[in-house]
Amino acid sequence: MKSYQPVRGTRDLFGDEILAHRFVTDAMRQVASVYGYGEIVTPVFEFTEVFARGMGEVTDVVSKEMYVFNDRGGDSLALRPEGTAGVARALVSNGMAQNLPLKFYYAGPMFRYERPQKGRYRQFTQAGVELLGVDSPNGDVEVIALADAFLRKVGIKGLITLEINSLGDMESRENYKKALVSYFEKYEDSLSEDSRRRLRLNPLRILDSKEECDKKINENAPLMRDYLNDASKAFFDAVLRGLDTLGIAYKVNSKLVRGLDYYRHTVFEFITDELGAQGTVLAGGRYDDLVHELGGPKVSGIGFASGVDRLALLLKERIKPARPVAVVPLNSEFDDAALKLTEELRSKGISADLGFSGNMGKRMKRANKINAAKAVIVGGDEYARGAYTLKNLDDGAQKEVLFADICKEL
Ligand code: HAM
Repeated sequence: MKSYQPVRGTRDLFGDEILAHRFVTDAMRQVASVYGYGEIVTPVFEFTEVFARGMGEVTDVVSKEMYVFNDRGGDSLALRPEGTAGVARALVSNGMAQNLPLKFYYAGPMFRYERPQKGRYRQFTQAGVELLGVDSPNGDVEVIALADAFLRKVGIKGLITLEINSLGDMESRENYKKALVSYFEKYEDSLSEDSRRRLRLNPLRILDSKEECDKKINENAPLMRDYLNDASKAFFDAVLRGLDTLGIAYKVNSKLVRGLDYYRHTVFEFITDELGAQGTVLAGGRYDDLVHELGGPKVSGIGFASGVDRLALLLKERIKPARPVAVVPLNSEFDDAALKLTEELRSKGISADLGFSGNMGKRMKRANKINAAKAVIVGGDEYARGAYTLKNLDDGAQKEVLFADICKEL
């Protein structure tokens, strides 16, 4: 018989890994709700157009990495590669633009056909937020503060630095693009094939290239900050001032451009050195034309998405599952009493495990295997006296506890 494997770039989550995932998404839930963000769940697939228009046809994500298929009705659909375009589409299709500003958070699976490696998968989980309808730089500051609070809650803030940049408004970007084109044209023959294509379609993407030949040329490319007009400069300064006010440390990285076309003004990434090449654990920025691109009114937005798988990798060693109590009958005569006690403990919210069969030795072995902290032994003279034997499995100490006191004791 053929033995099946998971599809390349996908994996099963269980044990420590799913605990770390849950820990991260729970942290997002808690922090986002303190900031007044409500949950949104958008479909896992959308019309391909939503992403193509929203994120830009020439981005790597749309042109190379999307899972696109025709459904049985002949519609072209795509598995979502990210959450922002879907949230913007949801705002338009639910007529929510009357109720701005809107604050959403989400957590769920995303799909990209990328080359899998540590921290990079074809199905991965993002947890993110989107703030819609706020034009002021204070919106950017709030979203970055939320990201910072979230990473603190996850408990890995010490491993991470914030890099930030401004891509300016449309006018600044157009001027910058012109400067980039005239710079890169000088090196056209040495650019990678992809980047030669990008030169005509979207020269900013060249700055993102991971090809060695492009990276060398990028070193001396013009910098965005020299092309920001006054309004864009003032906007960026206001964002940085807000971060200073809140004591959030950052590094301005003039080469940070991000891989998606919808960004305007602020872009940022939280980065760690601990995960090799996949060190960006959270990334986002402002997008002022996305909702309009998707057929809605002009509504600006700012948000971020964190890579839950990457945060979970950083955390995995640190999260320990809660240790249950093992209930162990002395022999099969006490099976019923042990069963009843186990259910009683559970009804009080105490995590309890009952080995289903075997003699006491075998059941004690199981108690160790599941890393139980304590065992309650049911039976013997103690039982006749109306008590259980409570054993500490770390140091072996034993004591008698009356039936009525066991829940309190545990
Ligand atoms: P992104 O930079 O494409 O932005 O992805 C955000 C984060 O998702 C990355 O920093 C990374 O941690 C994680 N990620 C991306 N691809 C993979 C992968 N193949 N495997 C594991 N983790 C991955 C966005 O998606 C934007 N929607 C963020 C945003 C929200 N901008 C504004 N609002």
